[in-house]
Amino acid sequence: MDWHDWYRDYDDPGSDLSRRLRSVQASLRAWLDRAGDGPLRIVSACAGDGRDLLEVLAGHPAAPRVTARLVELDDALAQRAEDVASAAGLDGVEVVRGDAGRTDSYAGMVPADLVLWCGVFGNLGDEDVRATIRTTRQLAAPGAHVVWTRGTCRGRDDVEPTDAIGAWFTDAEFELVSLDMPADTTYRVGVHRYGGRTEPLDPGRTFFAFVR
Ligand SMILES: C[S@@+](CC[C@H](N)C(=O)[O-])C[C@H]1O[C@@H](n2cnc3c(N)ncnc32)[C@H](O)[C@@H]1O
Repeated sequence: MDWHDWYRDYDDPGSDLSRRLRSVQASLRAWLDRAGDGPLRIVSACAGDGRDLLEVLAGHPAAPRVTARLVELDDALAQRAEDVASAAGLDGVEVVRGDAGRTDSYAGMVPADLVLWCGVFGNLGDEDVRATIRTTRQLAAPGAHVVWTRGTCRGRDDVEPTDAIGAWFTDAEFELVSLDMPADTTYRVGVHRYGGRTEPLDPGRTFFAFVR
């Protein structure tokens, strides 16, 4: 999969990907606006160039309280994220070039108050989506929000992928905060809140691998 090619859809403000970005950013901004007064931890998996989070953090009054880790495999995209964070003076943002499907990539940064799985679930098999949601119990602080995305199933109008995802979140003690799925688009943006206790991080474990 050429992720640089995939990114080109962001150049068109009317594309579904751009609309999805605005929806994700609205969720992130809403969360940040209501976050308490203390330090805030954020982890973003498969972060790409990090534009969803970084554009919201830039200039937000809560940004100086944020420590964030973006995990991304692609060196050029990770570099872009680092450059944007540095230009915006986001000193609390670190970009790790690593495998977001391994628990070790989150060591020292969890439990987090906000976990991003954007552009991830649609690239995984069902078992890995389920394992990722289950593993979020190790990454999320009690009350943490999780922002995730999923596209529709191509050629399968009869399958609504968020039905299963929602059930897996419920099984893992997350409650639905919001689900944005406009009828004329191919994306869904979900927000869940963790109602359980943080589980210890299980080191050295791989819980997902992209299928493409
Ligand atoms: C669909 S893009 C999503 C990027 C970004 N989160 C967004 O929504 O704009 C998927 C990203 O995941 C990265 N990626 C794929 N497998 C990964 C892995 N195991 N660990 C970290 N990043 C990975 C790709 O390089 C790509 O940047």
